[in-house]
Amino acid sequence: MLIYGASGSVGTYAVQLAKYFGAQVTGVCGTANLELVTSLGADKVIDYTKEDFTKNGETYDVIFDAVGKGPFSGCMRSLKKEGIYLQAVAAPALMVRMRWTSMISSKKLIGGTATPETENLIYLKELVEAGKIKPVIDRRYPLEQTVEAHRYVEKGHKKGNVVITIL
Ligand SMILES: NC(=O)c1ccc[n+]([C@@H]2O[C@H](COP(=O)([O-])OP(=O)(O)OC[C@H]3O[C@@H](n4cnc5c(N)ncnc54)[C@H](OP(=O)(O)O)[C@@H]3O)[C@@H](O)[C@H]2O)c1
Repeated sequence: MLIYGASGSVGTYAVQLAKYFGAQVTGVCGTANLELVTSLGADKVIDYTKEDFTKNGETYDVIFDAVGKGPFSGCMRSLKKEGIYLQAVAAPALMVRMRWTSMISSKKLIGGTATPETENLIYLKELVEAGKIKPVIDRRYPLEQTVEAHRYVEKGHKKGNVVITIL
């Protein structure tokens, strides 16, 4: 499995969950996050500023674009014939391309906004409590600095999560 954008909030959980379920994981992230993604259990890490993973000849059963910035055509080339493509960002143009590709190929493409279900959230909470997965927290801001927190997140380079503290 390849996880593109492995250092963001979605990506850091995706790497850990994929490893928990026994997948062989390649994480794609920037230079500053190589160590972080390795520490989360990724078997291989590719620096997107230095290597284009779509050109190294590797193919994957599953490609998860966790930040919506992966190259769509390249991802399709690097996906096995019966592979599964997962997309975290439901941009309309991308959804149309995904729909079309799933109609003309044997690949399965899944995207859209997740519907949180209580039982899944409880399952994740139990994994965290058991130490099987850990939240990655980049920064904490007090409630009154929520604007600054948003400004930081909107730069698009946070590592894992940013927390607003209420108490
Ligand atoms: N579908 C859903 O239900 C759902 C749920 C939650 C979130 N989302 C969406 O998922 C996306 C990800 O959210 P997030 O909070 O995990 O992270 P984010 O804040 O959007 O992304 C932060 C991470 O992205 C990496 N990144 C930035 N540009 C990149 C690039 N060109 N290639 C690879 N990595 C890159 C950054 O690493 P570097 O600093 O190394 O670049 C950073 O670690 C958002 O668009 C969000 O709206 C969807």
